[in-house]
Amino acid sequence: MDTNTHIGIVGAGTMGIGIAQVAATAGHKVFLYDNDADVRLHAAARLNDNVQNIAKKKKWTDPEAEAVLARITFMENMDAFRTCELVVEAIVEDLKQKMHTFEGLEVVVPTTSILATNTSSLSITSIAAGCKEPQRVVGIHFFNPAPLMQLVEIIPAIQTSPEVIAQAQNIIKSWGKTTVLAKDTPGFIVNRVARPFYSEALRILEEGVANFATIDWAMKQMGGFRMGPFELMDFIGQDVNYKVTETVYQSFFYDPRYKPSFSQKRLVEAGFLGRKSGRGFYDYDTNAEKPQPREDKNLGTQIVQRIVTMLTNEAADAVFWNVATKEDVDLAMTLGVNYPKGLLQWADEIGIQKVVETMDNLYDFYREDRYRCSPLLRKMAKLNERFY
Ligand SMILES: NC(=O)c1ccc[n+]([C@@H]2O[C@H](COP(=O)([O-])OP(=O)(O)OC[C@H]3O[C@@H](n4cnc5c(N)ncnc54)[C@H](O)[C@@H]3O)[C@@H](O)[C@H]2O)c1
Repeated sequence: MDTNTHIGIVGAGTMGIGIAQVAATAGHKVFLYDNDADVRLHAAARLNDNVQNIAKKKKWTDPEAEAVLARITFMENMDAFRTCELVVEAIVEDLKQKMHTFEGLEVVVPTTSILATNTSSLSITSIAAGCKEPQRVVGIHFFNPAPLMQLVEIIPAIQTSPEVIAQAQNIIKSWGKTTVLAKDTPGFIVNRVARPFYSEALRILEEGVANFATIDWAMKQMGGFRMGPFELMDFIGQDVNYKVTETVYQSFFYDPRYKPSFSQKRLVEAGFLGRKSGRGFYDYDTNAEKPQPREDKNLGTQIVQRIVTMLTNEAADAVFWNVATKEDVDLAMTLGVNYPKGLLQWADEIGIQKVVETMDNLYDFYREDRYRCSPLLRKMAKLNERFY
């Protein structure tokens, strides 16, 4: 997209500020609107801190950082969006409020503008359905922190026109990001495929197979993940992570594969939200005793095999249901959540027959639908096929 075009952002919270920064860095003039006066008051300082952080990481000169900041204007209403060719909504995760915002946007933006939502869990189709011109509504899902995360999921509503899909992909690519295309289904790619990373780890903990420090140790040391599941849940916030699981579970009409965990629910109830509250699974008090992992290689192998098998099964099932291509699923998990390799590439390395066998063993033992093997893997095993 031509950098002369203006970009609008609704919501000056974590994501809105991050996306504004990405667009301004690409050279666009950006208008940022938030309906909360208090947020507006503090947003400029927050944005300034964020830009300084990125400037340090990316070794920008002072004038470069200043130029990025100068391209972002804070607004007290949505009037300035009348010159914007793309508006990205990043307000609170509430369907009614988002629909109301889109209604307001349609009144001010030019007829040629694209209206995007950064929602993590709502249906893009339901947001588009409230619009007069639903064909120009699309999901553009950034990851947090937007200036640093390379991945953006593009999610067309069923009403979105092919031109708008292509334009959205081109704009985001021109901002230096990598896009993947996802069907409008719960969790899109990343928030769906990543569920077993948390939920299977929680199951292993609840069954008493290993403590959380051991599971984290195994997934990092033997699985090659940057963070263990419990560290990561503490980092994301137990409340936020639990809510995503619960939403995905409900949106899938209570498919047992996505069933939330009681241990995590209790943590949320106790206010043990993770790093932000000083305690989650881990205690972040400097004097707290650190839980020690049991560094048993056999146990570690079992843990990694079980969680990675569940992840590869989920990834394969997303391909089976045409949520995304195998290439996009692998890209999404490596760039969106920094997995050490693509899950389908991983399935090839483990061996498709072996993945099927592990899934079937889990299913036979638990007799729960949660452990059903994806038909795609079963078919591939029969035909001796690989993903790549
Ligand atoms: N935080 C994440 O990790 C993350 C990642 C990807 C996507 N998302 C999605 O992005 C969106 C924003 O999330 P966030 O974490 O930035 O939230 P946030 O709470 O940090 O910010 C939301 C902002 O929107 C403002 N707002 C609320 N209603 C508004 C309205 N009607 N008009 C204008 N402004 C309004 C609020 O004052 C607030 O400043 C959500 O849909 C969320 O699901 C969040």
